[in-house]
Amino acid sequence: MSLKEIPISKGLPLLGHLFDYKKDRLQMLKKAHVEFGGIFKLKVGPKTLVVITQPEQIEHVLQKKMDIYIKKTNADQLFGKSIGTANGAEWKKQRSLIQPLLNPRYFNNIFEDVKSIIIKNTDHYIDKLNNGENIRELFSKITYDIILKCMIGLDSYDKFHAVDNAIQEMTDFISNDKYSFIDLPEVINKKKQNFKKSLSLLNEIIYEGIEQADTENPRSLVSVLKKEIENNNDIKDKKAFIRDNIFTLLYAGYDTSALTLSWLSYELSLHPEWLEKCFDEVKDLDFQNLTYPEIKDLPIITACVNETMRLYPPGWAFTRFATEDDDLCGYQIRKGDILLYSPYLTHRDGHLWDNPDDFQPERFVGKSPVEIGRFQFIPFGAGPRTCTGMQFGMMEIKAILIYVLQKYRMQLSGERPKMDARVTLFSTNNYQVKLKER
Ligand code: HEM
Repeated sequence: MSLKEIPISKGLPLLGHLFDYKKDRLQMLKKAHVEFGGIFKLKVGPKTLVVITQPEQIEHVLQKKMDIYIKKTNADQLFGKSIGTANGAEWKKQRSLIQPLLNPRYFNNIFEDVKSIIIKNTDHYIDKLNNGENIRELFSKITYDIILKCMIGLDSYDKFHAVDNAIQEMTDFISNDKYSFIDLPEVINKKKQNFKKSLSLLNEIIYEGIEQADTENPRSLVSVLKKEIENNNDIKDKKAFIRDNIFTLLYAGYDTSALTLSWLSYELSLHPEWLEKCFDEVKDLDFQNLTYPEIKDLPIITACVNETMRLYPPGWAFTRFATEDDDLCGYQIRKGDILLYSPYLTHRDGHLWDNPDDFQPERFVGKSPVEIGRFQFIPFGAGPRTCTGMQFGMMEIKAILIYVLQKYRMQLSGERPKMDARVTLFSTNNYQVKLKER
């Protein structure tokens, strides 16, 4: 049986949908999704993307045929060859070393540190926040300190704003660079120069962590990893191996949890009934003496977090590169095609979800994400390359939320936020959410 050709939306000659992409990429993708259906091609500048949205297509690419759909990045300078960028046997080796280190059985050890970071930062930030500071900055500062302490082994760094800017600079650079036609040399490319500066700041922090890591008494992920690979002859450049992986974990785990908390605060400010249900679930917990097993379940809070990640998946789109021709659920894929799967599109598909644009946490109450559909609810990706930090992210999101809910109510204080799809899903106007004391 011959395979079907995938419908294509070409846009303007030469430029394709480049302007729409730069202006509002979510709107552009959503429009094409409605017009063309579950699978379509989209021309953006010099590239053509094959956009897949249906669970069976996502299962095919991320699981059944994952060996032929590989990750390819324009950001080797950032991540080197890490768990997030390697493929094939190299990726398997890295994953088998990193994944056990993020196993929830270690969370009991770090939970005391996590709690004191949350208390210190929230109490310190609250005045600033209510004087107009962005709520994302509060959450980012907490997740930054948690990652710094638990992964890199450093105590709160006074360079938060510099690091936050550096990460945003690098992110903007790689997301825009992907679809540009020309590669300007560094001497006349200001963005490239800033990118390099940002990169050296982050490298400086990570190398400081590697230097200080105590393998006799390993407490941070850097020190555990350093000890773990000490005698591993498969890994030639051990310092680069640790740097690349820790950089990846820092980058992947920094914004994602903070953005989820920011969008959730916004939705709870609009839905006081859910805000109170969440509060009721945690009001009797003693935060100072809280242990990790106590926060694992919490069905109402878990449902609200899941519903937030359905509507606003922090990683809203990811790509894969086809290394062979393939039959993708009846459609023709050619070697060299770039495939894009988007949790955002799949999560807002009206054929898959009732009232897809509404905040309805009840759809997750008493139902695990797996029951909903492993390839339909995909905020953490799916298949063997699913997020390694998923449990860690859920742990910090819930712990931060419990502390905030026990003391404050979320309140909208301005215009509703509009989504801004960078590499992760930001808001254009700082969420406009304040925390009012209970
Ligand atoms: C709410 C929080 C988070 C969300 C929504 C999220 C989302 C995702 C998604 C969608 C992927 C798959 C990307 C793909 O298919 O190309 C992924 C991969 C990954 N995430 Fe997360 N993530 C979160 C938190 C974290 C944290 C806290 C860490 C680290 C501590 C982390 C580390 C990673 C790594 C290393 C990968 C690559 C895994 C591989 O390729 O084998 N993530 N994440």
